[in-house]
Amino acid sequence: MTDIAGKSILITGGGSGLGEAMARHFVAQGARVTISGRRTDKVRAVAADIGCAAVTGNVTVAADRAAMIAAALANGGKLDVLINNAGNMYRGPLTELDEAQLLGIFHSNVVGAMMLSGLAVPHLAQTRGSILFFGSSHTRRAFPGASPYAATKAAAQTLTQVLAAELGDRSIRVNCIVPGGVLTEINVRAGLLTEAEARERLTAMLPLQAINHIGQGIDVAQAAEYLITAPWVTGAILDVDGGLGLGLTRS
Ligand SMILES: NC(=O)c1ccc[n+]([C@@H]2O[C@H](COP(=O)([O-])OP(=O)(O)OC[C@H]3O[C@@H](n4cnc5c(N)ncnc54)[C@H](OP(=O)(O)O)[C@@H]3O)[C@@H](O)[C@H]2O)c1
Repeated sequence: MTDIAGKSILITGGGSGLGEAMARHFVAQGARVTISGRRTDKVRAVAADIGCAAVTGNVTVAADRAAMIAAALANGGKLDVLINNAGNMYRGPLTELDEAQLLGIFHSNVVGAMMLSGLAVPHLAQTRGSILFFGSSHTRRAFPGASPYAATKAAAQTLTQVLAAELGDRSIRVNCIVPGGVLTEINVRAGLLTEAEARERLTAMLPLQAINHIGQGIDVAQAAEYLITAPWVTGAILDVDGGLGLGLTRS
């Protein structure tokens, strides 16, 4: 395993949820972390709290993507890791989908991540770095009405394997985390639930009765740490979901 200390890590969507948890975990181990997000107040507050750099930016905007790479290079002097964590949820029955919203979720969850990854490649080639994509347990277990979101996450998982093959000759590894069951803004907003309702619903679905009954950001951060430091792991798709995606039931 390589050391996380000293690595320059760019995390999109680092102003909340899993991105924030990863940033906190990596900074605590001496990494130079840069987070991005559309809400300036969010990314600045998180960055000030944990001691990393912040850049306002939307992954669907080319100039913003360039600014994210530039900010990470300015902060870390190089780029070792790109974490394509930014993501949006859009759900709806197939017969009622709004085309603009459908294109929007593909733009942020798939196209933005691909274009940002392309920009990062020359820098990652210099450091023998890696890219981490984010899939979802929605690709493992079918939830009616979740087809737009699930399709974008299936794309992220497939991209991981194609790009692992494509970028291997530059010594760039590409891996993917498939999270599920972690209570963050994305699932509270998407389900139109209160946090308490979302917590109760998730707890009922999860087979694994963990200490806090549902997953925590640190569970995902530790998995991310493994994937970005394991030199012989590429093209891996790692489920971190308490068994949610496997459809396990409780005994
Ligand atoms: N929590 C789970 O159990 C779970 C399960 C499966 C998959 N995931 C995936 O894990 C990743 C992190 O999600 P989360 O749970 O931490 O939810 P979250 O708190 O809603 O985080 C998503 C982040 O992405 C940013 N973002 C969204 N669209 C963006 C855009 N176009 N450009 C730049 N930033 C953008 C948001 O910030 P701004 O709004 O400020 O831009 C936000 O900080 C997502 O890819 C999600 O699909 C999570």
